[in-house]
Amino acid sequence: MRFTNSYKEKLKKIVIDKNLTYYIDTMGCSMSENDSSKYAGILESIGFKREENEEKANLILFNTCCIRENAENTLFGRFGTVKKYKMNNDNVYIVVVGCMTQQKHIIEKIKKSYRFVDITLGTGAMNSFPSKLYDLLKEKKKNIEFVEVTNEIEEEVPIKYDSKYKASVSIIYGCNNFCSYCIVPYVRGRERSRRPKDILNDVKKLAKEGYKEIMLLGQNVNSYGNDFKDTNYSFPNLLQDIEKIDGIEIIRFMSPHPKDFSDELIDVIKSSKKIARQIHLPLQSGSSKILKEMNRKHTKEDYLKIVNKLKNADENISISTDIIVGFPGETEEDFLDTLDVVKKVKFDQIYMFIYSKRVGTRAEKMEDNTPEEEKVRRLERIKEIYEKYLPENNKKMIGKTYKVLVEGVSKNNDKVLTGRTSQNKVVIFDGEKSNIGKIVNVEILSEHLWYLKGKIV
Ligand code: 5AD
Ligand code: SF4
Repeated sequence: MRFTNSYKEKLKKIVIDKNLTYYIDTMGCSMSENDSSKYAGILESIGFKREENEEKANLILFNTCCIRENAENTLFGRFGTVKKYKMNNDNVYIVVVGCMTQQKHIIEKIKKSYRFVDITLGTGAMNSFPSKLYDLLKEKKKNIEFVEVTNEIEEEVPIKYDSKYKASVSIIYGCNNFCSYCIVPYVRGRERSRRPKDILNDVKKLAKEGYKEIMLLGQNVNSYGNDFKDTNYSFPNLLQDIEKIDGIEIIRFMSPHPKDFSDELIDVIKSSKKIARQIHLPLQSGSSKILKEMNRKHTKEDYLKIVNKLKNADENISISTDIIVGFPGETEEDFLDTLDVVKKVKFDQIYMFIYSKRVGTRAEKMEDNTPEEEKVRRLERIKEIYEKYLPENNKKMIGKTYKVLVEGVSKNNDKVLTGRTSQNKVVIFDGEKSNIGKIVNVEILSEHLWYLKGKIV
């Protein structure tokens, strides 16, 4: 579906007359950040100006996450503050969008307890945002309704990125995997891939605008194309086509699923000059028994095989991952399997989570039998091993030279530049501000656990 904004001119007049500003608070993953860039794009296309200080903004948009319970609590905590802004100013509007508002019980809760909210929209409802905004600004009409998740794709939505050099592009929406702990398939609908032409046009446009790094996004990027009925075009094909686009120098993607990590994909990564030497490969658990309970459709051995193939393809590839501890039924023995994978893979980055029960998922009914203190202890045990290996990984980089996209200056010293290597390692080095947005060669001099120090060569 093409994004048509028939309200654009009518809205623009109201917004510019009232001199309205917006502030977006994003909770959640890269997909949510990408959605926020689209909301920013829509708002700016109708005349809203960005305001950095939420207290001064007219429209406060919360883009929400429901992957774990604490993400939900964050929103309700934030409501307390913005309610006050609204009480003091008639020209303050509160919009709540994203994964949380794709759940019926949340909409009921907002209707009952948070009446100051003006508009709610689910995950696939950007097309209806302008009309609802028009009703609100023109008629003071609120819109807090639950709408079933849509399986549509909205194309040509205006988009405003924070960076001028790095951009994310969604390639596939939704998820068909139904991992038993996960709420995403319920709030983001079934897998639907964008047409290759639409993606390639977006990337070409970004390259023309000077963007150097592209992050391809999807809940499961390597399922890309499985839903096409008229072509066999797949994720490896898409990567090869993006590789050909001049100006784009770094291609990243997130997240692939181990079950779809084909040899063809590994070959494409190996022969590519642009695909980043960092692969984010969610593990979730190292125990094949727990992985089965999680409905992950891969085993510990499958996971280790993929990592070995990637390291054989290029020893410079760094691996990052997601791990959940305390999934229902996870015994000490199961957890030791997770630690075993952590030791074997020597991850460069681990996002660790304590299992959080989600309403409506298959695991909701499973007995959550690990005490909270034990879950926290398991997180710490992963962290101990991870932090032991991380300096070893980093030390291997010392003395070598890496291409680094310069992202900005250090917070504490504007003579010091920061950027990331292809392995997604943060590097700081002396240099002129004029290098920002460029790719420079940096020799690594020392490692400091979470970052490296280097010099331009
Ligand atoms: N509890 C804890 N972590 C979860 N994740 C997804 N669902 C849950 C849950 N119910 C984690 C997974 C996923 C990451 C984005 O969030 O590790 O890869
Ligand atoms: Fe959730 Fe599993 Fe889909 Fe990832 S692959 S979004 S963890 S259901």
